[in-house]
Amino acid sequence: VSPARINLPYVDELLAKIEAAPDSEFVKAFGMRHVHWGYYTAPASADESTEGLVAAAEALTHRLTFVVGVKNGQRVLDAGCGFGGTVAYLNEHLSNVKLTALNIDGRQLLRARERVTPRLSNRVTFVEGDACSMPFPARAFDVVLAVECIFHFPSRWRFFQEARRVLIPGGHLALSDFVPYGPALPLLAPWVLLHRRAITRVYGWLNDLMPCTVLGYRLLARATGFRLMLDQDITHNTLPTYPTLLRLLRDIGHRDAERATQHVASVSRKGLVRYRILTFEAL
Ligand SMILES: C[S@@+](CC[C@H](N)C(=O)[O-])C[C@H]1O[C@@H](n2cnc3c(N)ncnc32)[C@H](O)[C@@H]1O
Repeated sequence: VSPARINLPYVDELLAKIEAAPDSEFVKAFGMRHVHWGYYTAPASADESTEGLVAAAEALTHRLTFVVGVKNGQRVLDAGCGFGGTVAYLNEHLSNVKLTALNIDGRQLLRARERVTPRLSNRVTFVEGDACSMPFPARAFDVVLAVECIFHFPSRWRFFQEARRVLIPGGHLALSDFVPYGPALPLLAPWVLLHRRAITRVYGWLNDLMPCTVLGYRLLARATGFRLMLDQDITHNTLPTYPTLLRLLRDIGHRDAERATQHVASVSRKGLVRYRILTFEAL
């Protein structure tokens, strides 16, 4: 994997903050467990607190793992595992599970290893590697998860092929992603051209100029041996993430990140890009 593909400036920033200011609000929000948006059950009354975001991020993990139905005794791969928040959650709620956390970035894996202690009946393994070229044999897992990370992978197509290879037939893939609203594509194309540089400067490598629509996911699934099972638009529940994140970025004085996040917030609020949970069955 070329270094360009592990170019994730926000992760560098986060790791630097963990080192320099481990007790800061920014680290509390994104450096302890989940590195993803929150799912607010009552978005209208959500506040901008860090605690609220932390709870909402946990709720997003709960929702994604619940809808795909991860069960006791299963072998679960979390691709793009961040600091191990999703495997930590599964480890705390399930027994007799074999959890594998995969990340291309060894620095995050080091922290994940420190933060997740397998419960007695569970096994947790941390593996450094690329989600598009997985170091696992065929049919090694019952469930593959990819929480808010597929846009970083070298290719969605290759990730789906790899996920299909490592899943048993009847196994499930669940992911969350920023999905463009199909009819809005003509509006989004110029937006992407205009703001892509500002966004990638902060959020790093993104695999496609234009991310995958729901129809794109349906076709991708069909072409790689999956069936789309469930598609949930949870944009509304994730929107309170933006004011909270923007406050945290203002506090650390990261103007570039504030600007980039404003761009994403604006297309999300307008409904041009939706935050979706998608699950697929391996055929
Ligand atoms: C937004 S974070 C999400 C982390 C985690 N899934 C979570 O929800 O807390 C994106 C993650 O994708 C990982 N990543 C990026 N490219 C990858 C690749 N090619 N293979 C595996 N992981 C990758 C990053 O290192 C980062 O941990």
